[in-house]
Amino acid sequence: MSDSTSTARSRVFDVDAIRADFPILKRKVNGQDLVYLDNAASSQKPSHVIQSLVDYYEQTNSNVHRGVHTLSIEATDAYEMARTKVATFINAPRSEEVIWTRNTSESLNLVAATWAEANVAEGDNIVITAMEHHSNIVPWQQLAFKKGAELRYLSHNDDGVIDLAGAGSVIDSRTKLVSATHMSNVLGTINPIAELAAMAHEVGAVILVDAAQSVPHMPVDVQALDADFLCFSAHKMLGPTGIGVLWGRYELLDAMPPYMFGGDMILEVTYEDANWNDLPYKFEAGTPNIADAIATGAAVDYLSELGMDNVWKHEQELTAYAMEQILSMGNVKVLGPQDPALRGGVISFIHDTIHPHDLGTALDQQGIAIRTGHHCAMPLVRSFDVVAAARASFYIYNTKSEVDALVNGISETEGYFSR
Ligand SMILES: Cc1ncc(COP(=O)(O)O)c(C=O)c1O
Repeated sequence: MSDSTSTARSRVFDVDAIRADFPILKRKVNGQDLVYLDNAASSQKPSHVIQSLVDYYEQTNSNVHRGVHTLSIEATDAYEMARTKVATFINAPRSEEVIWTRNTSESLNLVAATWAEANVAEGDNIVITAMEHHSNIVPWQQLAFKKGAELRYLSHNDDGVIDLAGAGSVIDSRTKLVSATHMSNVLGTINPIAELAAMAHEVGAVILVDAAQSVPHMPVDVQALDADFLCFSAHKMLGPTGIGVLWGRYELLDAMPPYMFGGDMILEVTYEDANWNDLPYKFEAGTPNIADAIATGAAVDYLSELGMDNVWKHEQELTAYAMEQILSMGNVKVLGPQDPALRGGVISFIHDTIHPHDLGTALDQQGIAIRTGHHCAMPLVRSFDVVAAARASFYIYNTKSEVDALVNGISETEGYFSR
């Protein structure tokens, strides 16, 4: 791959070549080849991204926006270049609309604590879906308690598909915000964001998109979605932990009060008062996460070179194959859309007789990493009358033979528990 400052150029989507870029895929787990199927929780990192961190600390390490010396200027350029790469990746009209945060959770909390704090009043309502991650439920619950506002939920059918017709009676003239996941981290459902955006805008509300599970896996265009805010985490898209993005429309961000106060986010401070810096710095108090922002730019380069259309196509093929294989077992129920065309590469499933935690532990003995539990979506998982589900989730380096390993692993586990 290119160095971390390169711009995107295309590369053939060759899974073997991709796998060779990920050092961790060479390791053994419990004596077996690692089969990593926990990508919805966090993805693995290619050498290109890891090396960009090493390069930064070995060659450029310095503070940004403050120095006149060479290292500070280089660090600032690389940090701002990463912002521009992210803006291009999601087709943001302006790079100043990209705010670095710690993760999706912080991005959501930022909107709740600033925009919603200023714009939601008693008697207003906030609309979310019934398939949200806790990060897109709890901030709104807390805000609603505080403001005397109502939190409403959009429902979905048994297949986990949003009831758009019913949404018309949930979103009304007192709705201030619609906040929805673009792709469910449990059901894999891809939600109709552009349609929800149109419904929100019709009543003068804004729409926030939790794109934690979509930006890593499919082309996402904030303008085509007609979104107002959109957020995601770098660690789910080949980048480092500890850094995420909040994108927002310039006019909205510009009108919002700051989230945190301190260095870099001010224009002028007197003993009596202070005023705020321009976007994006108004929302980036203190020394930012420079190295991880630059490495996020490297992750964006890597994905852009592969092409997000190709990434999505690969995962759709893998998902269709995995659905077919898992469902053919006959004793496993898959949550969410049964039609692979309606979903992404997240497959949550419940075995008739084996508890998800037992399954996850037994698969780990075979080197297979899956997720088990409530997936930070307790209300949703409980709505299926279970407290936990197993979840396999795919990314660019996964293969059909790894899906076979999963299915064989489940069969072997059945054998073990029937002994
Ligand atoms: C849909 C969705 N939203 C939000 C989050 C929270 O992301 P983070 O833990 O990086 O803040 C996740 C993480 O799994 C997610 O899947």
